[in-house]
Amino acid sequence: MNIIKKINILYKEIQLLKKKQKIIGLIPTMGNLHEGHIQLMLLSKKYIDILVVSIFINPMQFENLLDFKKYPKTLSKDLKILKKENVDIVFIPKISEIYPNGFKKHTYIQVPKLSKIIEGQSRPGHFIGVTTIIGKLFNLIQPNFSFFGEKDYQQLLIIKTVVKELNYPIKIISLPTIRLKTGLAFSSRNKYLNNLELKKAPLLYKTINTTINNIIHTKGKKINTIILNSKKNLIKNGFLIDIFNVYNAKTLDNFSIKNKINILLASVWLGKTRLIDNKKFILPN
Ligand code: PAF
Repeated sequence: MNIIKKINILYKEIQLLKKKQKIIGLIPTMGNLHEGHIQLMLLSKKYIDILVVSIFINPMQFENLLDFKKYPKTLSKDLKILKKENVDIVFIPKISEIYPNGFKKHTYIQVPKLSKIIEGQSRPGHFIGVTTIIGKLFNLIQPNFSFFGEKDYQQLLIIKTVVKELNYPIKIISLPTIRLKTGLAFSSRNKYLNNLELKKAPLLYKTINTTINNIIHTKGKKINTIILNSKKNLIKNGFLIDIFNVYNAKTLDNFSIKNKINILLASVWLGKTRLIDNKKFILPN
């Protein structure tokens, strides 16, 4: 496994691989790897010759310095996982390598509508940070395929839009959310949960499922009351709700009874931990 920290070394390596006509795959991460990442690595092997995993805690996508500073750092454990999964190249740049003049005045990529709604409304600037680092990694690594989890659904749609509208010759492959037996989605942020919160957290996915079942059962006609009751139930159990609503799964426009494919997006706080989750569903005629 080749661990690369510098852009000029990465560039030479990528040029060499391109000369050999190798198919390159990229899994961008912020480290603190979990089962969701491992499943992405396993999936990627079906598509590519060379797997590059990047580990970079991107300061540009955090709303505040504290959140950035306390993001879990588990590099030696991550490297063991990457080695076990036969990853070819790990790219671990320093912040100064990626943003030599700082990130505040850095050129950025922004998807105008999608990055401002829903999670973008509660976390202004977050998606600009994500799309900018992803654009940079795509330019540096020039992958043929890049792999993302569906847990960060809005992020996935935004990245797909960047690829399409900025003409990156990259295919984006997504993987459904990987869950613990309790239904809780794997996430690097689960590390912040204390024992009591860990017991409570699966209620989020349970509530998403009940809400969707009730919406389908009433053919979407009582959606507002159903969502309100679900939110009340989550609040009663100690969750603080930022987003818990249904959207058009393709456009992320607000729910309309005419939508065929919908998605319930949830972003909630349990103590000091932000949990996000989602589920798609089809409304019967
Ligand atoms: O989902 C993440 O871990 C990050 O947002 C990503 C895609 C690696 C960009 O920093």
